[in-house]
Amino acid sequence: MYTDNNLKVITEQITTHSFIVFPEDLNYAGTLFGGKVLAEMDLTAAKAARRILYNTSCNGAVTASLNKVDFKRPALLGDIIELTATITRLGRTSIDIYVHVSKENQRGEIETICDASFVFVSVKDGKPYPHQCLLLADKPESLN
Ligand SMILES: CC(C)(COP(=O)(O)OP(=O)(O)OC[C@H]1O[C@@H](n2cnc3c(N)ncnc32)[C@H](O)[C@@H]1OP(=O)(O)O)[C@@H](O)C(=O)NCCC(=O)NCCS
Repeated sequence: MYTDNNLKVITEQITTHSFIVFPEDLNYAGTLFGGKVLAEMDLTAAKAARRILYNTSCNGAVTASLNKVDFKRPALLGDIIELTATITRLGRTSIDIYVHVSKENQRGEIETICDASFVFVSVKDGKPYPHQCLLLADKPESLN
């Protein structure tokens, strides 16, 4: 990250998070509860959005939306769940974040569980507020 003409240029786009499936994370069918996964996805995206907003005038970012989530494979007790959030687009106040979730079983085999695209909105005093950040890939030639 660096600043250029009062714009913050984002160079780090990836944030990771992980947890191990504990008994309290299971549904009554004995697999990882979907609501737990959704909460951890939101948390991972929130962590990514928060990092974007360091040293800006915003005081946070809220979840505005997430798209359809298909749970492709169940996770089991003891599996490691890895979440990766990637900043894909920065609007005026919006922050688009793609979150991928995978599980690693006790034999070390890795499979995708689900993924989703989130939109966070940067706020100040509860209202949308421009973050003044841009992705390095979107930086115009005129700022070089
Ligand atoms: C998200 C929120 C701040 C948007 O406020 P708003 O006044 O409707 O926002 P605006 O219409 O001015 O749009 C601001 C930005 O948000 C984006 N946005 C607003 N609602 C959106 C939605 N549902 N999906 C995707 N983007 C959305 C707009 O595209 C715009 O982006 P841009 O600035 O990059 O162009 C407001 O709806 C809110 O506070 N929602 C509750 C958030 C919350 O509590 N989340 C936790 C879950 S309970």
